[in-house]
Amino acid sequence: MAQQEDLFKKIVSHCKEYGFVFPSSEIYDGLGAVYDYGQNGVELKNNIKKYWWDSMTLLNENVVGIDSAIFMHPTIWKASGHVDAFNDPLIDNKDSKKRYRADVLIEEQIAKYEDKINKEVEKAAKKFGDAFDREQFVSTHPRVLENQAKKEILHTRFAQALNENNLEELRQIIVDYEIVCPVSGTRNWTEVRQFNLMFATEMGSTADGTMKVYLRPETAQGIFVNFLNVQKTGRMKIPFGIAQIGKAFRNEIVARQFIFRMREFEQMEMQFFVRPGEELEWFAKWKEIRMKWHQALGLGKHKYRYHDHDKLAHYANAATDIEFEMPFGFKEVEGIHSRTDFDLSSHEKYSGKKMQYFDPELNKSYVPYVIETSIGVDRMFLSILSGSYDEEMLENGESRVVLRLPAALAPVKLAVLPLVKKDGLPEKAEEIIHALKFDFNCQYDEKDSIGKRYRRQDAIGTPFCVTIDHDTPVDHCVTIRYRDSMQQERVSIDQLHAIITDKVSMKNLFKQIVVQ
Ligand code: GAP
Repeated sequence: MAQQEDLFKKIVSHCKEYGFVFPSSEIYDGLGAVYDYGQNGVELKNNIKKYWWDSMTLLNENVVGIDSAIFMHPTIWKASGHVDAFNDPLIDNKDSKKRYRADVLIEEQIAKYEDKINKEVEKAAKKFGDAFDREQFVSTHPRVLENQAKKEILHTRFAQALNENNLEELRQIIVDYEIVCPVSGTRNWTEVRQFNLMFATEMGSTADGTMKVYLRPETAQGIFVNFLNVQKTGRMKIPFGIAQIGKAFRNEIVARQFIFRMREFEQMEMQFFVRPGEELEWFAKWKEIRMKWHQALGLGKHKYRYHDHDKLAHYANAATDIEFEMPFGFKEVEGIHSRTDFDLSSHEKYSGKKMQYFDPELNKSYVPYVIETSIGVDRMFLSILSGSYDEEMLENGESRVVLRLPAALAPVKLAVLPLVKKDGLPEKAEEIIHALKFDFNCQYDEKDSIGKRYRRQDAIGTPFCVTIDHDTPVDHCVTIRYRDSMQQERVSIDQLHAIITDKVSMKNLFKQIVVQ
């Protein structure tokens, strides 16, 4: 556990040191849970967005994109349920004056039982080696069974309290399980209260009267309210989807874990409109497609899992999360929800405008059902950095920090390094960059020893380094060095474009995602 915490700290400082993520307003001591992306971070982030956008709009003929405004008519948030129900249950510790989400405190307690079970299993696996039968161990070992039972009892009680929106019961669970404040160590808790997460501001000058407007807490509503605009102008036939990438804002109570939970963040959401009755079939399809999208990146299939929801929102008839194993445990990166006709019907009611589709095959009109896939760009960014960060011990006793980023997402694809700063080698390097820069993000570096330059590129995840030496002007060849294996190969300059394209093209990732 301590090792994982240590790893997380290292990732956070690596992000700062190498221009991926900076705390916002740092010279003014920062602003809680708001971050800026640096020169490498913005490239990685843009590549993630491109990977998502193209996988939606290129691979699916029936998915198109939009870009709706952040400010929207305030009644939209009444219709969506955010004004009345976009709340988190919060609880304060009277001694430390720290505020927590009551549900998170209880989830952490559940995770403690899981940790205990995992430790028993790991211990036994080490002891018995190849002869270890995990299934039998888990179903018979007394301490594992005891912790499993404790976990299930707490889980059932917690799920029921959430479903019934029973705030007193949430507090009682915290009291009964003797959960302490991590800062003060005491159990001196306030009542549990609901706290609305939307940021509000005012639009218009005071002379004209102002209107309270919200910073959108999700991008999805911009899609719902444009459903008919897109359907009619694009002559879309159901089933079809609308995709959008954009900023969202939430006044999170517990904003921690770096860019995992932010107050200003970015979402990539897609609403897929289907015939009523066909939604669960589409839910299953999108669940599978989205998992393939994640796994195609090659960070390891074991790092992802589904987490089906116990507590379904009142409008949903199925929901799952795709979780990634972050240094602080498996955490949600993406949500996939079958939202029925809740949003469109509610907008129909509040706006007084029909939100229906005439289905020529069925010869009738209906409010479509919706499958939503919703992923946070920043969480995706964190999952990729966590899955790529590696401290490798080398044969010569030295170590290196290398980001084993999926090549297609790497901020810089190619570093071009003249061995020395003279003898026409820098000019040759510039020539190569000039030939490749239209297709790939290239970086020129002539400072320090070649070894140090390799380390700098490893640290930002550059998949290829190309070295120009004194033979290059004669034989038109360069040495290409591969980030992960550190293998070096002499290749002709003419081959570079093809070698790099083969590894960095998103096409190879897309081919792994089956879309029907
Ligand atoms: N329209 C559905 C929706 O917004 P959500 O589960 O609240 O669902 C979807 O959010 C995704 O947005 C999450 O899976 C997560 O990746 C990201 N997300 C949500 N809140 C976030 C926050 N405070 N900071 C960073 N990412 C967040």
